[in-house]
Amino acid sequence: IERTFSMIKPDATRRNITGKIVDRLESAGLKVVAQKRILITKAQAEAFYGVHRERPFFGELVETMTSGPVVVQVLEGEGAILKNREVMGATNPAQAAEGTIRKDFAVSIGENSVHGSDAAETAKAEIAFFFSDIEITG
Ligand code: GTP
Ligand code: MG
Repeated sequence: IERTFSMIKPDATRRNITGKIVDRLESAGLKVVAQKRILITKAQAEAFYGVHRERPFFGELVETMTSGPVVVQVLEGEGAILKNREVMGATNPAQAAEGTIRKDFAVSIGENSVHGSDAAETAKAEIAFFFSDIEITG
C-alpha cells in the first residue's frame, strides 16, 4: 500500500478549512495515517522547496509557506501519490478541474491550499522531512 506526503498550506489554515480539505482526501479513499499542525521556519521552507531555489517565485513561495500554520500529513491508499494529485487539481487553480481541492478552495497559484508529493522518491523524502517512523500508524 502506497504512502504520500500532503500539506495543507497557510492560506487554507488561515481560512479555517482544514476539515473541508481533509474530507476531500478521505472521501477519495485516502487515509490520514499521520497529521500535525505546525509553523515551519524560513530555513525549513527553503530546504523543503530546494528544487525551486532558482525559480523567480522562490522568495514569494518561502514567504507564503511561513506566513501561518501548515498541517502536514501522511496519506495512505492504493496509488496514493497519483490519487492525491488528482484530488488536488492543477497547480494553478484557474486550470484546475471541477471538483478538485484547488478549483474549489485555492486563491491563486501561490496560495493554492495544498501540496502533494509528485513521485515515489519525493514522497519518501518529504515524509522523512517532517515525520519519524513512530509518528506514523497504518
Ligand atoms: P506542490 O504540490 O505545492 O509542489 O505543487 P505543484 O507540484 O503542483 O507545483 P510545483 O512543484 O511546480 O510548485 C510548487 C509550488 O510553488 C506550487 O504549489 C505553488 O504554490 C508555487 N508556485 C509554482 N509556480 C508559481 C508561480 O508562478 N508563482 C507563484 N507565486 N508561486 C508558484
Ligand atoms: Mg511540486
